[in-house]
Amino acid sequence: MKRILTGVKPTGYAHVGNYFGAIKPAIELTKQQDTECFYFIADYHALTTLNNKQEMQDYTYDIACTWLACGVDPNKVVFYKQSDIPETFELNWILCNVTPKGLMNRAHAYKACVEKNEMANVDRDAGVNMGLYNYPILMAADILLFDTDYVPVGLDQKQHVEIARDIANYFNKKYGETLKEPEDIIQKETATLVGLDGRKMSKSYGNIIGLFTTEEQLRKSINKIVTDSRMPGEPKDTDCALFKLYSLFAGEEKSKEFAKKLQEGLGWGEAKKQLFEVANEFLKPMREKYFYYQTHRDEVDKILADGAIKARMIAKKTLSKVRKAIGV
Ligand code: TRP
Repeated sequence: MKRILTGVKPTGYAHVGNYFGAIKPAIELTKQQDTECFYFIADYHALTTLNNKQEMQDYTYDIACTWLACGVDPNKVVFYKQSDIPETFELNWILCNVTPKGLMNRAHAYKACVEKNEMANVDRDAGVNMGLYNYPILMAADILLFDTDYVPVGLDQKQHVEIARDIANYFNKKYGETLKEPEDIIQKETATLVGLDGRKMSKSYGNIIGLFTTEEQLRKSINKIVTDSRMPGEPKDTDCALFKLYSLFAGEEKSKEFAKKLQEGLGWGEAKKQLFEVANEFLKPMREKYFYYQTHRDEVDKILADGAIKARMIAKKTLSKVRKAIGV
């Protein structure tokens, strides 16, 4: 039995790129045999950037409802909130004491802040709080607390998993084999995750399609897709944002038919209508589930509370091993 664990920071609403790039592959892992998945909402990690009570609550429910709507089955996946696992924060402190400060100096997120400050000719630590600085240690605690084998993450988090492995190693060297050294599973960037303008779909480019927007908003987003100026009747290229998005939502067969129609001269206006149809058909059942959970937050609370109970059973065991190893 291999244990797979990953955390999601509640910092904003999911878009279609997040779904195909991260959520869907993580859900697929939960269906594999001989694996046990621990998925959690990393609310205390979000504190480095989120400091508004309402946003914290809204984004936290949003992540919970999103992942449940996308197919996290609470009977199979241990689904919980980081802040419900106090053992994490005790382990965090212990790990602080085996982690060399230099390792944190080299962490990408902190280094990027320092470089920005140096460019701006201000104090190198301006705007850096200890939450940001220690972020990788808290993440190591999340991972090591559960004897995790694999951590599925995007490329931007690869260094953090390596740091977790280093920290486990420092601890084990000092106190004897206690913590399991995890490995990452890097979710490949899918070339087809393009946004409305053909660049990678990303909130910072303002080219996203929201995952659970209304039908009207979905139609509006799709109408904004950038196309070339070819007229109806002229053959169209399938190497374009519109076709790539279509093929994410429709199966292979339907996409082939669509490609043929484009080559035969289907107009962009009509093509957008057909994309809306397949996208809406795909998203509708998930959207309905999402709004069901959003309006039944007591059920969500119950799922997360049950998840926390299951998670803590394991967390307590690891922590007691660690406490024994250090002599407290
Ligand atoms: N740092 C991760 C991110 O920003 C979120 C996260 C927190 C996480 N703890 C984790 C991911 C443990 C994997 C494992 O996306």
